[in-house]
Amino acid sequence: MPTVLFISGSIRRESLNTKLSSIAGSLLPPGFDAAYLTLDEVPPYNGDFEGDKSPASVIALRAAIGDADGVFWTVPEYNYGLPGVVKNAIDWASRPIIPQNCVVGKPMNAAVATTSSVNGVRSLADLKRYWNLLGGIAVPTPDCVVNLAPTKITDDDGRVSLAPDSTKMVRLAVECLTRFIESGISSALVDNWHAYVKAVTS
Ligand SMILES: Cc1cc2nc3c(=O)[nH]c(=O)nc-3n(C[C@H](O)[C@H](O)[C@H](O)COP(=O)(O)O)c2cc1C
Repeated sequence: MPTVLFISGSIRRESLNTKLSSIAGSLLPPGFDAAYLTLDEVPPYNGDFEGDKSPASVIALRAAIGDADGVFWTVPEYNYGLPGVVKNAIDWASRPIIPQNCVVGKPMNAAVATTSSVNGVRSLADLKRYWNLLGGIAVPTPDCVVNLAPTKITDDDGRVSLAPDSTKMVRLAVECLTRFIESGISSALVDNWHAYVKAVTS
């Protein structure tokens, strides 16, 4: 069964985005498995620890992305952009960039949970831009932002739920991703990446 990896971009204990990650996973259509990842253990990027020398959490991050058929991020926005924790994880995931990093060929979609009533889209835009440049593909869907998230995401003793209007948008974002996975676009992305590598290395 194809697997979608749900990654939360916040390491805060009561993170709205981690709660949204579990909700998004529950919205997968039949025929898909969910896997979950948080970034708590991923240290700041350090080029002294590339390849086999990478920390176990980084090796696990690369393997989780590499093994997944698609990735669904839930990320905060910090100061009008992608939080450092997420950029840092992408920096680790991108190595080695050649011949192929683990993002190559991976369809991705994302949602933001924010306390703000108006912000959030800049973080999404940053994430999608990085992902595409690494050889993945961010599904071209409308931005999925859960604004005023503390009023929309409720946690009743670990039973997390999302307001119906937001659920509709997050389900749409998840289903747009699963449609992309089913389309087989991945193999074209991998071929494109290898053509690019050949062009720059030969
Ligand atoms: C350093 C910092 C910067 C923030 N900047 C933004 C911002 O630019 N846009 C926004 O929508 N929310 C911003 N927020 C508020 C976040 O939406 C809020 O803290 C949210 O709960 C973070 O997600 P989490 O609950 O998953 O940790 C900021 C919060 C922090 C701590």
